[in-house]
Amino acid sequence: MTDQELVKRAFEMHRFSYVPYSHFPVGAALLTGDGRVFTGCNVENAAYGSTVCAERTALLKAVSEGCREGWTAIAIAGQGADFCWPCGACRQMLYEFAPDLRVLAARGDGQYAEARLSELLPHGFGPRSLE
Ligand code: THU
Repeated sequence: MTDQELVKRAFEMHRFSYVPYSHFPVGAALLTGDGRVFTGCNVENAAYGSTVCAERTALLKAVSEGCREGWTAIAIAGQGADFCWPCGACRQMLYEFAPDLRVLAARGDGQYAEARLSELLPHGFGPRSLE
């Protein structure tokens, strides 16, 4: 699975996004070490704060299917002019399982930028912080 293919998988999830409030679909695709891809979309709620982002949908699908190790990359696809970097809550959730994850943030024209989660969340609080 190339980075470009992973980004494409993220874009394909726009069709499932439930976005009656923001009208801003986001898709995500999480690649694991054994080549599996867990996808997600954003799911909004009339109580706005209960909205779940695309990345967390993908993360929860992976963990709830028993896959919580070996994650190599996540692609996040927005439709705006800016790259769709993960929000703070998603950075924190991802950090728990893959602190050095490769993050591919795509924008509406299909271009994407790459960073490590450890760059996006420096000095993060994770499981080891509790030891
Ligand atoms: N959103 C995501 O799904 N992921 C992000 O990284 C940024 C924001 C969603 C939440 C909400 O449904 C919409 O985008 C606008 O904030």
